[in-house]
Amino acid sequence: MEGIAKPKVVKILIKNIKSLVQFDDGKRLKVSGLEMKKLPCLENAWLAIEGDKIADFGEMKDFPGISDWSNLQVIDASGKLVFPSWCDSHTHIVYAGNREQEFVDRINGLSYEEIAKRGGGILNSAKKLADATEDELFESAMKRIREVILLGTGAIEIKSGYGLSFEAELKMLRVIKKIKGNIAIPVRATFLGAHAVPVGITKENHIENVISKMLPKIAEEKLADYCDVFCERNYFTKDETIRILVEANKYGIKGKVHAEQLSHAGGIEAGVESKALSVDHLEFANESDLSLLKSSDTMPTILPGAQFFLGLQYPPARKMIDAGLPLAIASDYNPGSCPSGNMNFMIALACINYKLTPEEAINAATINSAYAMGLGKTHGSIAIGKQANIFITKEIPNYAVIPYSFANNPVETVILDGKVIS
Ligand code: NIG
Ligand code: FE
Repeated sequence: MEGIAKPKVVKILIKNIKSLVQFDDGKRLKVSGLEMKKLPCLENAWLAIEGDKIADFGEMKDFPGISDWSNLQVIDASGKLVFPSWCDSHTHIVYAGNREQEFVDRINGLSYEEIAKRGGGILNSAKKLADATEDELFESAMKRIREVILLGTGAIEIKSGYGLSFEAELKMLRVIKKIKGNIAIPVRATFLGAHAVPVGITKENHIENVISKMLPKIAEEKLADYCDVFCERNYFTKDETIRILVEANKYGIKGKVHAEQLSHAGGIEAGVESKALSVDHLEFANESDLSLLKSSDTMPTILPGAQFFLGLQYPPARKMIDAGLPLAIASDYNPGSCPSGNMNFMIALACINYKLTPEEAINAATINSAYAMGLGKTHGSIAIGKQANIFITKEIPNYAVIPYSFANNPVETVILDGKVIS
């Protein structure tokens, strides 16, 4: 319309980047096996952002110069590295209250499963969540999300599963929907009604509720991108997991599985059979699971923080990559098994404990974790046309320093949707 100026496209030029990490042509959706040892980097580079997208990048020696200075912000990244933001494909970041008493109980000798049997664990969080308002849940989750954004997370998946009743699961998913509309990073919502059996109802009736009451309503209100099941002894069996995920598939809601965390319960088999997007945890994955995964499109995902915090056995992460599989890393941020969403620390744990190389761990926390939350086309690497969700590090000599300085925050500047937010 005449007289109304078009909004100006804001541009950012980052120059003198010591190393531009994880660039590609935007066509790779995941990396597997030996490929995971390669991490494409451009030394002494520049990166241009236009609007909310990555516009171009290259080496400083080939920098074409600036023809249009209008609305241009120039950042000098001398001595610093630029990364695509971490993609955290598995969290339970919406919750009420903490569970530090259970942490102390575990220090004093109780196991995670013993605590759960006494009504602690997931049911403890469900009790706390039932008393919390949507506003309280929203505010506390937003605070945690803002914190992890400053640690480099630029995409996040969030599960329900502390509601368990029809009303409380919908409450959680509505909170996640509100988060989606209020934060500059993509949020993927996962319905985890089958996280535990709530008090006062049989497992069969709960599964029936999940399938016949919750799923149809959630699909109708478009509240979930994915559906997850805790496939574990004393929780849900392989067959129950398949039954729920097959139902979810009918609504176009793809599956994810909490698989082989505390025992071998068939979660990987259930995930592969129901064409799940990812199977997560994997401490008890065995040889035959590895070959099953090789014939599938399901992303094996490790959660090194939960394994560390609960003192579980290590997942066969090294073996999986050596067998030619892809691997993703996520945080599992939740009040029971991993009260941290620091992806830098998750990467460090994977390198220190499971002997992933820094290249493998960074691939696992970017391109492969983007795949594990259905964002492979828009996130997870520096590519022309991808979303400009990136971070600039403090002055560090190279990317291996991220897992090496394991408790430090390497992130200095965060850019989301093409806007500098810190
Ligand atoms: O991913 N394993 C099941 N669910 C969560 C933890 C749940 C909790 O203890 O609150 C996990 O570890
Ligand atoms: Fe989890």
